[in-house]
Order: sequence, then C-alpha cells, then structure tokens
Amino acid sequence: MEKVKKIVYGGDYNPEQWSEDIWEEDMRLFRLAHIDIVTLNVFSWAMLQKDDDVYDFSKLDKIMEMVRSNGLKVCMATSTAAHPAWMARKHPDILRTEHNAMKRKFGSRHNSCPNSPTYRKYSALLASKLAERYKGYDNIVAWHVANEYGGLCYCENCEKAFREWLKERYQTIEELNRVWNLAFWGHTMYDWEDVVVPNLQSEEWFWDYTRTNFQSISLDYRRFQSESLLACYQLERDEIKKITPEIPVTTNLMGFYKDLDYQKWAKEMDFVSWDNYPAHDAVPFQAAMSHDLTRGLKQGASFWLMEQTPSVSNWHPYSALKRPGVMRLWSYQAVAHGSDTIMFFQMRRSIGACEKYHSAVIDHAGHENTRVFREIAALGAELEQIGGLTLGARTYAEVAIVFDWDNWWAAEYSAGPSRLIKYHSEVSKYYEALYEANVAADIVSVEDDLSQYKLVIAPMLYMSKDGFDEKIRNYVKEGGSFITTYFSGYVEDHDLVVTGGYPARFRDILGIWVEETDAIAEGNCNHFQYKGKQYPAQILCDLLHLEGASAVSAYEEDFYKGMPVLTEHEFGKGKAYYVATASNKAFYSTYLLDLCEKLEIVPVLAAPAGVEATQRSNENGKFLFILNHNDKTEEVTLPYGGKDIISGKTYTIGENASLAAKDVMILHSM
Ligand code: GLA
Ligand code: ZN
Repeated sequence: MEKVKKIVYGGDYNPEQWSEDIWEEDMRLFRLAHIDIVTLNVFSWAMLQKDDDVYDFSKLDKIMEMVRSNGLKVCMATSTAAHPAWMARKHPDILRTEHNAMKRKFGSRHNSCPNSPTYRKYSALLASKLAERYKGYDNIVAWHVANEYGGLCYCENCEKAFREWLKERYQTIEELNRVWNLAFWGHTMYDWEDVVVPNLQSEEWFWDYTRTNFQSISLDYRRFQSESLLACYQLERDEIKKITPEIPVTTNLMGFYKDLDYQKWAKEMDFVSWDNYPAHDAVPFQAAMSHDLTRGLKQGASFWLMEQTPSVSNWHPYSALKRPGVMRLWSYQAVAHGSDTIMFFQMRRSIGACEKYHSAVIDHAGHENTRVFREIAALGAELEQIGGLTLGARTYAEVAIVFDWDNWWAAEYSAGPSRLIKYHSEVSKYYEALYEANVAADIVSVEDDLSQYKLVIAPMLYMSKDGFDEKIRNYVKEGGSFITTYFSGYVEDHDLVVTGGYPARFRDILGIWVEETDAIAEGNCNHFQYKGKQYPAQILCDLLHLEGASAVSAYEEDFYKGMPVLTEHEFGKGKAYYVATASNKAFYSTYLLDLCEKLEIVPVLAAPAGVEATQRSNENGKFLFILNHNDKTEEVTLPYGGKDIISGKTYTIGENASLAAKDVMILHSM
C-alpha cells in the first residue's frame, strides 16, 4: 500500500450527521490526537441518492475538501450497507425476508436482499459514481465497500437465485437428489421449481436456527448466501476498479463471523480488514485468535484493524469501560498480530439512536479534556514516532491450525451426537494453549499450503473435503505432525457420510477406527490420565480400535474403560495424533507443549502468564512485541538485544526488561 507510510490512525467519521459549524473543531481535535485517516461515507446513501435518478454529492464534496485541506487520508466507503427509505418504498424487492418468512419493512441496516435486482443495480451504480467523482483525490488510500456484510435472506429473489446456483453446481435434478440424499423422507425432487429455501416454512426448526431436517440443503443455502453477498461486494469492487484500479479495495470483516465464508471472501479483496469488539469479559487470547484468523485469510499478509471502540461498545450486555492503558494495549495487540492500522469506531459520539452511548474519540463533552481523548492522543504521538517501521511485517509460525467455514456450518447442523458441539470453541482450546505459551500459530484454510509447518492441528474436522486427506497424507508422510480430534472425518463436501468406518479418509493416516461415540451430558465426564495427571473426558468420547496407532492413554470409567483416548501413529516420516474427546485447559496446555518440545517448536518468548509475545519481520528487521495484560509489573528476559521503538530504550541480549501493568514494548532488532 504505497500511500501509507506509517501505522495509520483514525476511524469512522460521520460529519454529515452533524451541523457544519463543528467540522473545524473536529479538525482541531484530530490534529491534537495525531489522527491521520478518516473512514468517510459509511452510511450516506440516503443523502447521496434521493430518487431513482437524483443524486446529490454536494455535502460529500465539501467534506472531501475539508478533509483533504486538513491533510487527512481517506478510507472511502460506498454507503451501501443501508438502503434509503424511498428505495424500499418504490422497490420493495430490496427488502429482506427473515427466517420465519416475515418480509421486512424499511428499517435498521444491512437490510438489503443480496439477490435484489434493485440493490445490485443501485449499489454498483453508486460505487461507480463515487469512484468517478472522487478519483482525483490522491488522499484516498483505500475503498471500503458497504460495511460489515452479513445476515441471511429467504425471499423470493433468493429462492429463484438459489435454484440457478444449484443448477450451475449440480447440473441435473438427479445429481441434486443424490447430493442432498432426497430419498430420505420421500423428498425426491422432480423439477428445479421443487426447490424452496430452507427456513421455518420448510426444513428448519423454529426454536433453533442450527437445527434442520436436511443438513445438505441448509449447508448449501449458507454457501449460496455467503456467495450472494460476496457477489454484491464484487459488483461494487469491479465498478471501482474500472475507474481507480490503483486504489486497493476492502470491506470490513468481523473475525469468526459464521454467516460468511471469509476464506472465499478474502480472495476477492486486495487486503483484509476487520472490526474488533471484545466483550466485557473477553480474555486476550480471543482477540489474538481473531487477529490471527484475519492474517491467515491472505496467507500472512498484514491487515487493517478497521474499527475498535476507544472505550465502550453500547451493544454489549455491559458497556464496560476500557481500563486505563487497555485501549493502547489492545491497539498494539492488533499490530503485534499483523495490523498496519489502528482505527476506531467512531470519531464523534452521536447524539441520537442506538449508538449514542458508544464511545468515540470526541465524546459528548465535546472537548479534549477526557481520559479517553488523552489516551488516544498519547497513542497517536507514539505512532508518529514509530512511523512505518513495522508496516507489512510478517509472522513466521511453525504451527498451523485449520479452520473451515463449510465444516463450521456442517458440524453444527449435524443433528447429534451432542448439542455441545461448537466448532469455534473446540478450535479455541488448541489455539489458547499455544497462545498462552507464546507459540505462534497461523490459522489456515484447507486450501492453504501446509508444507512450511512442523505441526498442523485440525480440531473437529467433521467434513473432510475432497483432496484434504491427500494433502494431510503427503504432509505427514514427508515428516509433518498432524493432530485431529473426535468428530472428524465423518462426511464429504455434501455432508454425505463417508462409509467404511470413521474417521473415514483420515483412518489410515491416524491408524485407528472409531466404532462408536458416546455423548456426555453437560456437567458429566469420563476421565483419563496424561503424564501422571488425571483429566476429564467431556462432550464426546470415541470408542476406538487401534489399527497401527499406539495408545497413549485410555478411559478410566464406564463400559469402555481401557479403550484408547489419545493415540499416535507413525506414518511415513511423520506422526499423526488423535484426541478422542474434549478435555480441559490444563490438559491442552500440557499435551500441546509436550508436543511442541518434541518437535522443537520454540515459543517466541518465555514469559510469565498474562504476558503475550509475538514476532513480526520485514526488510527493517524483526520486531518482538511484548504485551503485559496483567495488572502488575512483570519482568521478562529478552532473547536478543535491540531497541524498544516505543520508549527508545536499548537492551542487550539476555537483559531483563520490566513492563508496567498493561504496558507494551516493541523490541526492534536488525
Ligand atoms: C460495527 C459497525 C459500526 C458500528 C460499530 C459499533 O462494527 O461497523 O458501524 O455500528 O459496530 O460498535
Ligand atoms: Zn432475498
């Protein structure tokens, strides 16, 4: 990104929601806070297009001029995340239909049907007009299409488009009957017109979105909806690219957001960006994991932190304040995991509607004498001093954790064996154990190249997509180490069971056969031992037979007492490990750290609990980020010498550094 020379600092700015007499004051406060970028025009469609053929850019023209003359960069949004009221009135095809078949009226946002001809036509047209009008502004550093795409629609447009999508994918109705297993419950379809959207009126259950009679239909519908919204993004992007091909295009993602397959989306984006809103009770690994997911979407390329709150988020159950130092700490955490920006929602706190109690750089008090503003200004000054040193730096991890959206949908639709099946939470257990030891991990897709990793972990990989088992087979044969768990390898891409014994395609690699699986109700558990300590076996317990693997541990109770619960299997030059149940945090830490030690996977830094460390490198050298999440001072021993680019202090190898509560250092070494 050529136009960006430092970690850019700023965020969503909505001057059109204010009277013009305060704009100059905003500019003064931005200067005080060292703000250098604003995201403009996120929700201005109603202001820009007043009727089918009536556009009015006069206010945006003024805003663009003001911002440019104040030396600010612009992240230019296209305004298409909330359609205007007149459009809904005149073209009701733009309105979404809910899961319960309720057709929505005008209201809210992210409210347009992704298959509405009106939405597609007018959103692309607006993007094109914006690009044409503002192409001369060389302070536009990025395009921000729409905003936080999301949600599902079940309207007639979508139903028709779904049929077309299926025809393209499956060609014949016979193939559709096969992949959806429609012989079950006499669902055989004779004509494409027999296909209806899977919602409350057809296959899905009223009390739980994740329950459906036909997983295959619901799964395809999710794929289709994710692609439908993606198509909307692509339409706008293509219009923009025709006019300003040199300006990178993105849209702001939301971390582990289930409705959209971000691994597919990222392929269509020049760079990825995301919005980070940890809840009041969030623990630091959760944001770290979402940052790492985001970085992994583009195979390790740096990303943008597009939004975070300066302090409170109004929509959480409790609007807890970010304690002194926490905004700064979490900002650097984003950079530590691969961000090239620190951006906020929002610049000035609104006075009406649902975000009036969401914090902002400029609070309702309206001046700079607030704790939050002072912290923002102080961080802004630091970022100016750091400049562009860390831009584009990469993380070199030796561990990869596989994450797959189709698997997420399919595993949680599965209808048994347990309602405790939660894919993201299972993956989190493995990530958290590594995170706490400061072992870097990349979160990768099933399509990514795995050959650079010493260890690949694919928890709960219920769906083994065509070709992935072969990739793992080769990876392990060539010397890699692979871990998978219970509830893996059951189905292929269409959610049809792969017969012949679980975990089907992974069976030869793991050297096991899972004959049965016992679901353990919440609060109950079996037990097993690992390295002399007892751990719980929860959620599911596989009853498995060894077919070449050796047992590392066995269940201690019930009729399957003595059956293996942890196995390992030499396969080619590598090893495949199986964890047949879910356990607790203590187990994952011990188990994974043992394995890391065996594989000579070294933590970035040995540090006290609560002190996070990551390392990124680029042509300027390497950067060791050390973040103290604790409420007390902590000491660390530095693995190499260098200069802390925040404090300016230099250190020699093996020296101790002390970090105050919530403090951060970035040790730079050539
Ligand atoms: C999202 C949106 C913003 C704003 C914030 C509030 O991230 O993109 O427009 O609503 O939430 O937290
Ligand atoms: Zn629709």
